[in-house]
Amino acid sequence: MRILKNKYILAFETSCDDTSVAIIDTNYKVYTNLISSQLEHNKYGGVVPEIASRLHMKSIMKLTDIALSEANITLQEISAVAVSVNPGLIGSLLVGLSFAKSLAYSLKLPLITVNHMLGHIAANLIEHPNLSTPYLALVVSGGHTELVHFITDHDFIIIGQTRDDAAGEAFDKSAKLLGLGYPGGPLIDKLAQTGDEDFHTFPLGLNRKNNYDFSFSGLKTSVSTYVKSQTPEFIEENKENICASLQKAIITILTKKTINYAKQEKINKIIIAGGVSANKGLRAKMQTDANKINAKVYVPKLSYCMDNAAMIGAAAVKKYLNKEFSDLNVNAFSTKGVRYL
Ligand code: KG4
Ligand code: ZN
Repeated sequence: MRILKNKYILAFETSCDDTSVAIIDTNYKVYTNLISSQLEHNKYGGVVPEIASRLHMKSIMKLTDIALSEANITLQEISAVAVSVNPGLIGSLLVGLSFAKSLAYSLKLPLITVNHMLGHIAANLIEHPNLSTPYLALVVSGGHTELVHFITDHDFIIIGQTRDDAAGEAFDKSAKLLGLGYPGGPLIDKLAQTGDEDFHTFPLGLNRKNNYDFSFSGLKTSVSTYVKSQTPEFIEENKENICASLQKAIITILTKKTINYAKQEKINKIIIAGGVSANKGLRAKMQTDANKINAKVYVPKLSYCMDNAAMIGAAAVKKYLNKEFSDLNVNAFSTKGVRYL
């Protein structure tokens, strides 16, 4: 029997404020996954698009060189170049895409373009290469909250999405109101672990039967009103309890809608993806509630939850095997959602 050699894919992710370069093979083995986070945005309390693009330009080449030497793989051994092309900040996406195109052109390699949100979902394939459709995916990040029913890899229905803030935004904006810093998700997650989640009741957005959309702007207003109604000393003394309570409001509604839909449609595989999938409370609650309906929960390894290029490479594996390549005149676009591939 002839044993086919694994092919290496060089992958790039520059959709927001992290420059990431990874090398993954067609068996989903990750050789390197370097992430350079742009701390410059912290002083502005959010990402400044123009600064983000410039910093991607500054680091992408250096990061690629380090990735290749760390993986001990040469450019000549690479079989394809993969890159995220949407959704995201258009200037940032264009840096990654232009760099990937120039490599593909000069090395005569196929170019594979990837939807960033599908990349987050594909992060699960690194741990579970045999994970197959049908499944229900809850995609929760700084810009997205979508519940997507995948019937096949290409045929999917968006069951619900946020009508205002994304789940990650709810964490980030609440943390800002509490004076905790940015990004708020990991900070709230950590503090919540030692807090009392029943300390205060924050509202559950769109908590209605058969409604699978999400809304987190009411929670943000409620946190703001609550903070104003208390002294700074009280907030400081009770920050663990407040974080646990507001985290409970976010994860209760995310879990409830996901489980209700899975139960209704008899789906026995649930995937959580995107930056918020790192949340310990969300991972635990989804697992507990899924057990009750005999569904299995898949979550990415923590290092593949936040934006990273390994997940873009993982999403590119099937496209590589199916020869789904892009022309070199392909463009990046900022449109949100998993609908645009
Ligand atoms: O996927 P991601 O890295 O970037 C986007 O595509 O948006 O997600 C970033 C978001 C931020 O809002 C961040 O606060 C949130 O993910 N996040 C978390 C946690 N880690 C990151 N939210 C809750 N708990 C966490 N542990
Ligand atoms: Zn993301």
